[in-house]
Amino acid sequence: MDLKEALKSELTEEEMQHLVKSFEVVGDIAIIEVPEELEHRKELIGEKLMEVNNHIKTVLREVSGRKGQFRTREYESIAGEGETETVHKEHGCRFKLDPTVVYFSEREAKESQRITEQVQEGETIMAMFAGVGPFPVVIARNKNVERIYAVELNPEAYRYLEKNVFLNKVDDSVESVEGDVRDVCPEYFGRCDRVLMPLPKGSKEFLDTAIRCLKDEGGILHYYTWGEEGTMYDRAREDVIEVADSMDREIEVKDMRKVLPYAPRKWKICLDCLVKNKK
Ligand SMILES: C[S@@+](CC[C@H](N)C(=O)[O-])C[C@H]1O[C@@H](n2cnc3c(N)ncnc32)[C@H](O)[C@@H]1O
Repeated sequence: MDLKEALKSELTEEEMQHLVKSFEVVGDIAIIEVPEELEHRKELIGEKLMEVNNHIKTVLREVSGRKGQFRTREYESIAGEGETETVHKEHGCRFKLDPTVVYFSEREAKESQRITEQVQEGETIMAMFAGVGPFPVVIARNKNVERIYAVELNPEAYRYLEKNVFLNKVDDSVESVEGDVRDVCPEYFGRCDRVLMPLPKGSKEFLDTAIRCLKDEGGILHYYTWGEEGTMYDRAREDVIEVADSMDREIEVKDMRKVLPYAPRKWKICLDCLVKNKK
């Protein structure tokens, strides 16, 4: 039985209209949006959600959008134990994390797999904005890489990143670095075959740092940003080309895709770019 089915006899028809269709599951925590109209029903919704998904131990309600540099959001516990640390499994890897203090989304799983599939043997990779490690850990578990530098600013996320690197036994290839990519990356300039930039908000300001991490002969850049219906990839493409041009680099956009819906008519998008020196 799904959540809608379970609540059919408990909520009025009007209340049912406000019930969201889906919720996120991170380890044994369910994360759900409960609109204001259902505020008075939130505990019931949480309890029913646990009844129909018996591995769920805590139900969290989103009470803010993603905020600040760390891209975290506020939650309130509406059912269950209220424990917010969990272990989430994806692509054969385990991620220990607490969604109330770090960014994590199970909806990104397809994207880390897509990037992993592109990685070639022996690559050196800069994983900027690493969070608790889904991109670097999944790549290192599945590909024979030379080295992955995983950089994260949020001390809580960094703490989990370090743990997850050991938990998944990839400490021989993944090096976790705590700090702001702008301060940390100069040490890795000219050393990488591939750079990942999974921070769509304000990513343009990190583009020059990312490009400088690539080897002189060039490499691949995965640039994430927002795109809106109508002009979806135009601004992103212009931004990458403009920054690369100012650094005497040339860009060949290999692929452009929608990663996740973000808001009405707005998407998180990714441009896979080959960066080369100008001839
Ligand atoms: C959108 S989250 C993505 C995290 C991770 N890649 C994932 O998919 O779960 C962006 C991450 O970048 C981190 N961050 C933001 N600004 C940063 C900076 N200047 N240097 C390093 N990390 C930063 C945030 O703390 C956050 O964990």
